Amino acid sequence: MIKNIEDLNIENKKVIIRCDFNVPIENGKIIDDTRIKAALKTINYCLDKNCAVILMSHLGRIKTKEDKKEKTLEPVAERLSSLLNKDVIFIDETHGKKLEKACENLKSGEVLLMENTRFEDLDGKKESNCDEELSKYWASLGDIFIDDAFGCSHRRSASNVGISEHLETGLGFLMQKEIDTLSELNSPKRPFSVILGGKKVEDKIGVIKSLAEKADYILIGGGMAFTFLKAEGFDIGSSVVDNEKLSFCKEIIDKYEDKIILPVDMITVKEFKNTGNYETKDITEFALDDIGVDIGTRTVKNFEKILRKSKTVFWNGPLGVYEFTYFRKATEDILKFIVENNIKTVLGGGDIVGCASLLGLKDKVYFASTGGGASLEYLEGKPLPALEIKK
Ligand code: 3PG
Repeated sequence: MIKNIEDLNIENKKVIIRCDFNVPIENGKIIDDTRIKAALKTINYCLDKNCAVILMSHLGRIKTKEDKKEKTLEPVAERLSSLLNKDVIFIDETHGKKLEKACENLKSGEVLLMENTRFEDLDGKKESNCDEELSKYWASLGDIFIDDAFGCSHRRSASNVGISEHLETGLGFLMQKEIDTLSELNSPKRPFSVILGGKKVEDKIGVIKSLAEKADYILIGGGMAFTFLKAEGFDIGSSVVDNEKLSFCKEIIDKYEDKIILPVDMITVKEFKNTGNYETKDITEFALDDIGVDIGTRTVKNFEKILRKSKTVFWNGPLGVYEFTYFRKATEDILKFIVENNIKTVLGGGDIVGCASLLGLKDKVYFASTGGGASLEYLEGKPLPALEIKK
């Protein structure tokens, strides 16, 4: 049975907490600390219970030795230290005497962050393949294990699933909140609308299929809209397209004809760059060299009409190229519309949450999931390995 952190006697224990500190970092600077802030409740609870706290997380993917320089968790230790207002001991290794000694000597009320768990992937992908020996070794560093890393709950790694096979385990507050909220979408108040954006259809086939069954409306924007539009026979100029997924999109449109809402107009440019030199075009008017970069105002109005009557909304993926300031307008307008009209909306998937955060709207929405792939796999109905806890 899955236990929660409150079900365990953690008082005065050495607690290992698996967090998802996989945050965007550029030139050593953290761009978005949402995931670090989201971990604070569990960490503070453990500190209140007089625990010594050992934190673990992955950061990015480690394929070569060179990746290690860019993917160190050191900036996270610094940010965490300022958020907790206390020292965070950073140990720049994932195994060895230094780590063992530091964990052994860690006192109640102290916090230690171990280096990126995926550094172990350079040695036969031990972390990502949930290596038994590594799992046992990390488990030996503490007395109890708390998994609070919802963002990687769809991964079977040594630092989440592996440790939980060797130590008494409970779910942290973030993990609980994520599961509780996302499970509300299994029996949503209706109408239930889903907004899908982002570039690739390929990554979202499973979730599109499963949400198309559950939802009353599917509003499609972002780059993926062009694959749907092309499948419908529209000329999309030089816009991004997943040619291999045309027949899948056609099948979905035919099967859920009355649910799927596609854009009727788009913002277009001639060169893919952040430029004020754009046009709004009806989707029947695309020239060969037009590149669609955001949904147009008529489409925004159509979406708002449906959202206004929706009782529950799930949103994955931005509606335009939000990295370019000129082309985040539709995403911003609809986020604002949802907030102003108090429409119960769950944001899932890294990009839309990052975008909402960038626009200062993330905390005004009903719930912003910290999991990208994890929230999608959960909604797809796939079992999350991190929830198959043995101990
Ligand atoms: C995420 O950002 O979605 C999680 O941290 C998982 O990262 P991963 O896709 O590299 O496993």
